[in-house]
Amino acid sequence: SSFGKCPSISDAAGGGTRSRDWWPCQLRLDVLRQFSPEQNPLGGTFDYAAAFATLDYDALKADVKTLLRESQPWWPADFGTYGGLFIRLSWHSAGTYRSIDGRGGGGMGQQRFAPLNSWPDNANLDKARRLLWPVKQKYGKSISWADLIVLAGTVALEDMGFPVLGFAAGRPDTWQSDESVFWGAETTFVPEGNDIRYNGSTDFAGRANQLEKPLAASHHGLIYVNPEGPNANGDPATSALDIRETFGRMGMNDSETVALIAGGHAFGKTHGASTIALGAAPEASSLEQQDLGWSNAFGTGSGDDATTSGLEVIWSKTPTNWSNDYLNSLFKNDWTLVKSPAGAVQFEALNGTVDYPDPFNGTFRHATMLVSDLALRDDPAYSVIAESWVDDFDALTTAFAAAWFKLTHRDMGPIARYLGPEIPHQRFIWQDPLPATNATYSLTADDEASLKEQILAAPGVNVSSLVSVAWGSASTFRGGDKRGGANGARIALQPQSSWEVNNPAQLQTILSALTSVKTSFESTGKSVSLADLIVLGGNAAIESVANVSVTFTGGRVDALQEDTDVSTFEFLNTQGDGFRNFRNTSGYSLASTEALLVDKAQLLTLTAPEMTVLVGGMRALNTNFDGSSNGILTSTPGKLTNDFFVNILDMNTVWTADSTGELFTGKDRTTGEQKWTATRADLVFSSHAELRAISEVYAEAGGLDQTVADFATAWAKIMNLDRFDVKK
Ligand code: HEM
Repeated sequence: SSFGKCPSISDAAGGGTRSRDWWPCQLRLDVLRQFSPEQNPLGGTFDYAAAFATLDYDALKADVKTLLRESQPWWPADFGTYGGLFIRLSWHSAGTYRSIDGRGGGGMGQQRFAPLNSWPDNANLDKARRLLWPVKQKYGKSISWADLIVLAGTVALEDMGFPVLGFAAGRPDTWQSDESVFWGAETTFVPEGNDIRYNGSTDFAGRANQLEKPLAASHHGLIYVNPEGPNANGDPATSALDIRETFGRMGMNDSETVALIAGGHAFGKTHGASTIALGAAPEASSLEQQDLGWSNAFGTGSGDDATTSGLEVIWSKTPTNWSNDYLNSLFKNDWTLVKSPAGAVQFEALNGTVDYPDPFNGTFRHATMLVSDLALRDDPAYSVIAESWVDDFDALTTAFAAAWFKLTHRDMGPIARYLGPEIPHQRFIWQDPLPATNATYSLTADDEASLKEQILAAPGVNVSSLVSVAWGSASTFRGGDKRGGANGARIALQPQSSWEVNNPAQLQTILSALTSVKTSFESTGKSVSLADLIVLGGNAAIESVANVSVTFTGGRVDALQEDTDVSTFEFLNTQGDGFRNFRNTSGYSLASTEALLVDKAQLLTLTAPEMTVLVGGMRALNTNFDGSSNGILTSTPGKLTNDFFVNILDMNTVWTADSTGELFTGKDRTTGEQKWTATRADLVFSSHAELRAISEVYAEAGGLDQTVADFATAWAKIMNLDRFDVKK
């Protein structure tokens, strides 16, 4: 009755083979033009925080609680509640977050779109979102899907007797798939034996042991690990090693990992009623399925006949109440490896009691567990933690509450973004805490002018290094998890102060000059933060060499070293900062230098024109991290000009690559005399058709004025990326 969503070959708009099909190595600039106001049905000026302020939050929660217990005939609720399903919904939404590049997570409601809506691990979560639709419809714009998805699991926990720590809203929706996330290079989902994301020479359960960075899942299409053990080997001990690696990539330690699994699997069940293959995932299902997928031809296709993962497990005797029965069952039963009705490997307590309830028919079963659950018993470190909680339910409760809050808020960035009446008072190191803003940090226009003068007159400073340090301070910001940025002046703290890209010697010179200015300013009884002075220094430097005024928004504060999680801040160390012509030669990334430039621009939420003018302007200002002359295509280094664009497009220059393909020499076409050297992060602006087109605008008549004006605007944007305290 249906042709599904194919044929894929179309003569309509967008059909046929595309540029990327012909030239697969084409640099992807589309990641710099996502989420534009034009594709947002709420309009470019929609203010989610203001809309959320109109929400009757208690009424919304009450409606979710009612909905949890109202079983729908089209997808009957196990044990009379959708609690387990909603917890899994929230966990899978948040659980794609990875610390290494700060991408993934539940902050943008991406689970609604491909590929996440159709990952095998997200099977039947389409039903969970559809169950929530009446509530979303009722409250409209005042609650985003992204928030509702995370809230649903949190309310479910509360409804089943778990004392959650709280909930913060503040995740505005997006309206398209986020194409910036590298989910892996595989072309099939969760294939057993397809281990291309693992390399290294050490054998690990039949495969290599090193998981490719920045990935955090063992296979494409999984949130974390294969529940049947690595490549379905049925071995809890090696499953533990996969769990440690993948949960570690989300920033979870052993204790948090045990708490999350033991806490989550205290509720609900898994689904594997039959071997009958499920229908296509939502992205490929037929139109009449209305964006639902995984149709099931077995029996009723739902309820007791449902298949999701193919595993058939009920962990607890009380799957709808918070209890310690998961850990009791784990440690007090003997486990036998068996197969689920769908043929997946799992464990069953064959000699145990038969008092684990069927969700629908009133019968009882033996206790069951996933292979990955038994990892908590068989791994030496996990078992110490898990066993200590068997008789200390309060400790498990406390640990799970903190870990659930971290899981679901880890990707939200500063607490200034948190909204709603249930924000916990506790502060956590993973929130990158900043001291409370001190009113005396507000500067008058006269203060700003005088400070700028003092900075420019300070010994050891020059335009290039002031700009470079301000850039280094602000440009750690990552749009994915909103970490980093200039607020806090963490560039003066470990680990940032030691990063090669920050040129530690130059950095210390500038920091001591700024500290002297701070001391002298504060001797007058006023206050200014180092964080503000770093930004003010960059602005002053730019204004001193161009006829422009750069917007300054003061009020930043200085973080403390003890409030800085050095190991996770290390993830903010860049793989490549093409803006300062830096390539991290000891980094993990195999991407081209120009792809890393775009990657950083995407993390900085820049458009292609913003990226272009910032690179061109910074080259003119001579801000390479190591002071090299690569790409400094000007006879007046340290001035804000459009010389970079004029010279990179100059047909009188002939470029040749060195043997590495990373460095290029530009010679005069007539005399053969060497004029310039440049990197891939320079020549991409004349060799890539779209970037060349933008560069031409900055090189043509009127280009100098436009370079200066656009640079100042883009610069101010970078300096303020993390100022959620002053933004709407
Ligand atoms: C269900 C695997 C961690 C909460 C499931 C299912 C699998 C699974 C295979 C069954 C899906 C189905 O067939 O319906 C894993 C693995 C984990 C893990 C391999 C990590 C090693 C977590 C965490 C949480 C969680 C951290 C929450 C904190 C749940 C819940 C269900 C579930 C509540 C029941 C869903 C329902 O009742 O429909 N998990 N899980 N899981 N998981 Fe996990």
